[in-house]
Amino acid sequence: MTAFAEAASPHVMNTYGRLPIALERGQGVRVWDVNGKQYLDALGGIAVNTLGHNHPRLVPALQEQIAKLIHSSNYYHVPLQEQLAAQLVERSGMTNVFFCNSGLEANEAALKLARKFGHDKGIEKPVVVVYEKAFHGRSIATLSATGNPKVQAGFGPLVEGFIRVPMNDIEAIRKATEGNPNVVAVFFETIQGEGGVNPMRIDYLQQLRKLCDERDWLMMIDEVQCGMGRTGKWFAHQWAGIVPDVMPLAKGLGSGVPIGAVVAGPKAANIFAPGNHGTTFGGNPLAMRAGVETIRIMEDDGLLENAAKVGAHLKAALERELGSLPGVKEIRGQGLMLGIELTKPCGALMGRAVDAGLLLSVTADTVIRLVPSLILTEAEADEIVALLVPLVKALLAE
Ligand SMILES: Cc1ncc(COP(=O)(O)O)c(C=O)c1O
Repeated sequence: MTAFAEAASPHVMNTYGRLPIALERGQGVRVWDVNGKQYLDALGGIAVNTLGHNHPRLVPALQEQIAKLIHSSNYYHVPLQEQLAAQLVERSGMTNVFFCNSGLEANEAALKLARKFGHDKGIEKPVVVVYEKAFHGRSIATLSATGNPKVQAGFGPLVEGFIRVPMNDIEAIRKATEGNPNVVAVFFETIQGEGGVNPMRIDYLQQLRKLCDERDWLMMIDEVQCGMGRTGKWFAHQWAGIVPDVMPLAKGLGSGVPIGAVVAGPKAANIFAPGNHGTTFGGNPLAMRAGVETIRIMEDDGLLENAAKVGAHLKAALERELGSLPGVKEIRGQGLMLGIELTKPCGALMGRAVDAGLLLSVTADTVIRLVPSLILTEAEADEIVALLVPLVKALLAE
């Protein structure tokens, strides 16, 4: 049986409990390890490989870009930044974009925007409302915003200026912020990813939008994991018919090429001036090309519709096969971001799934998370179910 590798690598820093396989190549939603064993990939690089592996349009486009220009500098105009920004603005209903390289960087930029928004209004100690079970990254500020004591342990003192509230409870946020003139923003994931695939209710999102407008707070939605078509709309909050003021993106935006972006609406688009924020690599031509082509291909191939359709098919099959088992608490999520919460810890399933030829993850101890590429077909979804169901039943029988 596959177990977590006992010995850490001698030279790579020991930050992950890695499974003892190494992947060498991929095609579509399948990957092969260095020994030639094949896996069905229901993890997609943790919600990153939007177009699957070795996509026939993405790969030549990136090869062409590499031969032309990989990196220039933000000292100069980067036309591909203009192109990708225009695509994101059009799809989000927002107005301006800052490009960086990862989710935490996008969230750091959002937090800086919130603080400067406050300072510009004369608030010297701005406060941002964040959520229980949230995950926003591993930098000092983003881990301070994260609602998971395990992520924070050993890294104090944490950054100040956060108030934490529970999800889906409008009275709780009203109460927590009552009479506090320093609040400048509310920061959350539409569907919490690392926290266990926990969706915010549509009516709560709409109430929050109203509250932000009433109080002149920035609504900042971390769509790093749930965005970029995964739920069947470009951005998960669009199911609630709202538009945020600030929206960090990363993961699926580049189909595997590292990229991050902060999309801003009119209330936040002009907060930063030259010198306020920057990054050497952010917005480089290679990453921008990956984003531009990803969005084009998603649109040409109807991948939003596919995510909604195949996601609904997968969820229905999981509910049919697992929903009535006493050890299965809930099957939740939307599109191709699904979580199966069990009544007991299930971390062991990651290794057992690898043995069975399936890649998935377990988050928040008891939640099996499926975030495959958006090219997944119904037949492949059925294969995931066929591989996963016996593993879950066996675990629950132990
Ligand atoms: C919602 C959310 N925000 C931020 C991050 C951090 O992104 P990165 O790992 O690219 O820094 C993650 C990563 O899992 C995430 O799920």
